[in-house]
This record gives sequence, C-alpha cells and structure tokens, in this order.
Amino acid sequence: MRVLMLAAPGAGKGTQGGLIAEHFGVPHIATGDLLRAHVADGTDLGRQVKSFVDRGELVPDAVVLDMVREALEEARNDSGGYVLDGLPRTMEQARAVYRMTVELDMTADVALYLQVGQDELVRRLLARAQQEGRADDTVEVIGRRLALYREVTEPILGWYERRGILVSVAAERAAEDVTREVLVALKVLQTVAGQVPDSDRRSIDLTGLDAAFGAAPEPQPGSGV
Ligand code: AP5
Ligand code: MG
Repeated sequence: MRVLMLAAPGAGKGTQGGLIAEHFGVPHIATGDLLRAHVADGTDLGRQVKSFVDRGELVPDAVVLDMVREALEEARNDSGGYVLDGLPRTMEQARAVYRMTVELDMTADVALYLQVGQDELVRRLLARAQQEGRADDTVEVIGRRLALYREVTEPILGWYERRGILVSVAAERAAEDVTREVLVALKVLQTVAGQVPDSDRRSIDLTGLDAAFGAAPEPQPGSGV
C-alpha cells in the first residue's frame, strides 16, 4: 500500500497516517516529524530549517526531497509500501515525488484527502498547542500555514483527481470514524490494485456519503481548506 496524504494543517494527516501505516505494516514518513526531529537534535539540517518551520514557511524543496528520497529508498528495501505525510505541498514537489517514485518503481496507489473546515482546523491546532506546545501552533503561525495550504497545496488535488488516484474523505468527525472509512476504502482499492491499468483508474469521493443516508451534504473537495 502506497499512500500520499494531502490535507490542511490539523486535518489529521499524522493521526490517520500513523494508523494506516500500522494497519498495512508500512513506514509512516512524515516530513514535519522528520524536520522537527532534526531541529530537536540540533543537526546541521535542523539548524538550516528551524526558522522556516517555526514561521510556518515551506522548507526549501531540495532539503525535503533529499530527506524523502532517503526514506523511500529504505522503504523500498523493506515492504515497498509507505504512507507519505506532509509532501507534496506544491506542484513542483508533486512532480518531483512522482519522478522519484517512477524511478524507484513505487508510485503512489492513493492520494488521500481529509476534508475539514477551517474553524475546526484552528480549534484542533490550538487545542494541541495546550497539550504539546509545538512551536508553530500559535494563532499567527497557524494562520500562515493555513494560507499557504490554500494557496499552494490545495490546487494540487485536481492533479491527483485527474490521475484517478484521489480518495476524498469527510474528516470533520470522530477520528475512529474517519479511520474506519479510510481503511475500508484502502482495502477495497488494494484488492483491485494491479488489476486495473493506470489509465482506467477513477478517483473516489466519499465526502458526500452521509448525504445518501439523509444527512446534510458536505462541501466538495476544493471548496473548503
Ligand atoms: P507538518 O508537521 O506536516 O504540519 P502541518 O501540515 O501543519 O500539519 P499538522 O502536523 O499540524 O497536522 P496533521 O494534519 O498532521 O494533523 P494531526 O493528526 O496532528 O509540517 C510542519 C512544517 O514543516 C511546515 O509548516 C513546514 O515548515 C515544514 N514542512 C513539512 N513538510 C514540508 C514540505 N513537504 N515542504 C516544505 N516544508 C515542509 O491532528 C491535529 C490535532 O487534532 C491533534 O492534536 C490530533 O490529536 C487532533 N485530531 C486529529 N484528528 C481528529 C479528529 N478527527 N477529531 C478531533 N481531533 C482530531
Ligand atoms: Mg502532522
């Protein structure tokens, strides 16, 4: 199982990404976690990136792409699967990771989008600030991270949709419910992966599923953050 996670800050990439990785027995490669570990350990790379991470700005592509290549090479020597959380964030990174995974023969099966509205994102990140004290969970930096997400990351969703690998899930509800739906969708896709040529793949939008059972419709991907 090879998954890219595309979602706003606070949408649950880390929470769901960890569970998906555990379920499928693949590494959870989270660029933010890797960068924060370098900062905490005071490595050269950590010193280079600290001010970007603290301000909620994007770290230069070369740094994150090198880090991810190393992690993907390790993953290839292991099960070959991965959950990549936090990259791509820009169209350039999307193209770069695609080229890299073609070369390594491990292109993504699924780009997973977790849909959560802006107010809930801010609420979650401020709640986490109380518990974990992450340097970038301040009102000002959260605002910058969300703005950057909308500006440069959200537009990439269309690219994955056209490639037929986007799976969109309504994620503004209990984490266990999100996990259940995501795992069901991924397991179904896993059974058909390999049997369907890339050109015949279709993206799956589960965000309106509740509407089929009488609940109010959710906003469509791209209309929220
Ligand atoms: P990164 O660490 O990736 O941060 P982020 O994208 O801002 O996302 P978060 O980790 O804050 O949120 P999440 O979606 O993982 O949500 P979580 O599961 O924690 O990146 C940090 C920085 O590193 C960037 O700003 C940048 O500087 C740099 N960087 C990283 N990647 C880069 C790249 N590719 N290029 C350049 N720079 C890069 O959940 C959030 C909170 O909500 C938690 O407390 C959780 O317990 C709670 N929660 C989760 N799900 C639910 C739920 N369903 N209901 C209620 N609460 C929930
Ligand atoms: Mg995270």
